[in-house]
Amino acid sequence: MSDLTSSAAWQALDAHHKAMVRSCQTIKDLFKAEPERADQMWIETHGLRLDYSKNRVSAETMRLLLGLAKARRLEEWRARMAEGEAVNNTEHRAVLHMALRNRTKAGIPVDGVNVMTEVTAVLAQMKAFVASVHDGTWRGFGGEQITDVVNIGIGGSHLGPQAAMESLRNHAHAGISVHYVSNVDAHDIDGVLATLNPETTLFIVASKTFTTQETMTNAQTARRWVLDHFGDEKAVARHFVALSTNVDAVTDFGIETSNMFRFWDWVGGRYSLWSAIGLSLALGIGWANFEQVLEGGHAMDQHFLNSPLDRNMPVILGLLGVWNSNFLGAASHAVLPYDQRLDRFVDHLQQLDMESNGKRVNREGAVVNYQTGPVIWGRPGTNGQHAFYQLIHQGTRLVPADFIAVLHPDHHHLEHHKILLANLCAQTEALMLGKSEEQVRAQMLASGMAAEDAARLAPHRTFPGNIPTNTLFLDRLDPFHFGQLLALYEHKVFTQGIIWGVNSFDQWGVELGKELAQSILSDLEAVGDITRHDASTNRLATLVKTTLTE
Ligand code: F6P
Repeated sequence: MSDLTSSAAWQALDAHHKAMVRSCQTIKDLFKAEPERADQMWIETHGLRLDYSKNRVSAETMRLLLGLAKARRLEEWRARMAEGEAVNNTEHRAVLHMALRNRTKAGIPVDGVNVMTEVTAVLAQMKAFVASVHDGTWRGFGGEQITDVVNIGIGGSHLGPQAAMESLRNHAHAGISVHYVSNVDAHDIDGVLATLNPETTLFIVASKTFTTQETMTNAQTARRWVLDHFGDEKAVARHFVALSTNVDAVTDFGIETSNMFRFWDWVGGRYSLWSAIGLSLALGIGWANFEQVLEGGHAMDQHFLNSPLDRNMPVILGLLGVWNSNFLGAASHAVLPYDQRLDRFVDHLQQLDMESNGKRVNREGAVVNYQTGPVIWGRPGTNGQHAFYQLIHQGTRLVPADFIAVLHPDHHHLEHHKILLANLCAQTEALMLGKSEEQVRAQMLASGMAAEDAARLAPHRTFPGNIPTNTLFLDRLDPFHFGQLLALYEHKVFTQGIIWGVNSFDQWGVELGKELAQSILSDLEAVGDITRHDASTNRLATLVKTTLTE
């Protein structure tokens, strides 16, 4: 047994879970037993509301989960991260995305250096650059004003800005269109370039390392596209800027260091939207709006750092996730936004959560004997209702879900919004209540169906219910609330990482595939047969090689 599963706090939860199972207590029963539940399991902060009452947890479960958080010293770890300690222990790095959105300007020393000085300087550089593009001071090599910005990046250097840009499209700055290219599959960049004019296009090469194969390949293709048009190397400096920690590689690419926006190794890729990596977003929504995203993130940081654990939204969401995974056995967690603009937000959360907590060893390197991060997936409702909700309602797997909605939309179609939100409320109700075989049969008989048919169909039309859901309501999907929502999930992931004892801030699991891709690429480029891999890989790579050389 590990120190987690052998701890008194875990053992108490285990015993409590077994007693709950023995008593067959459902969420519906809990609402009867705890009449104040809907009020008590409700947290509000700055226009963001969480209802977590539709979970398979009693007041006692919550007390025990909070005991687990205390036993795992969550508050101490939270402070250690905020104070710039190297909590990313496998890379010996501080984890300071909170410093990027620190609106108090209070100093944060790391190794004796106040990181806020550099953060403030880069924000000022970004602000001036955004102004110069917007007011036309910054022009393309041919003298034209920039109308299109293409962010070339992947993973954390892509998903966050793209999700934010899509979520905040109602706040877009007129006159600038932002595009995203990430996949090394050239259909991606071809599709984007086909719509653009090199005279009016600015490329942002976003890469923390500036060595990522996909990003550098796309950046070189974009560079050729620009040079094919202008026929002059000097054009690169007017059509490319870089967001990176790697000054040398940026300079080698031909981007002037004055057009490089820095960030630091204490910013994890999937936590980097708040840094220079957010430049495409700042250009797309304007500086004042970008600052509001930072304000929203900061407001959530304050809530996370200062609220008692039992009223702390990210802590509660994190603990419920642990309960669902480790005690109820859920292998995945669905995120179901009832707002089309949050479609890409789910993709970002997927990376945030799965790259952070998809770990099999604890911080000390010991293999864990419990489940860690779940599979995160989802798509906007109501589309999902007509696609995959069937499995959530009647499948054999338990899929807990977060429902996310916005109270005030940025359109005037009240009728649509009413239908949308009615569906959200109905789904969480249906998932909790279900519908028993008796109810189903009675309904069919009342509609005049023959008893024999009703008996035959009843099992198919029965809903077990008792499926845990959280509901999050935002006042509006504006820059502030978007920042708040994103920071909420970042801290939820942190909370779970601390409970599970894993390092949420490295991602060694992406390395093996990268190495092998390099080796296969060299096989494809070399003369001779491919024989040094397993039989299957040799065969696949040979097929690729012969096809590409035909
Ligand atoms: O391969 C995973 C990863 O390292 C992510 O963690 C990161 O966000 C992404 O690749 C892109 O890395 P970079 O910003 O260095 O290009």
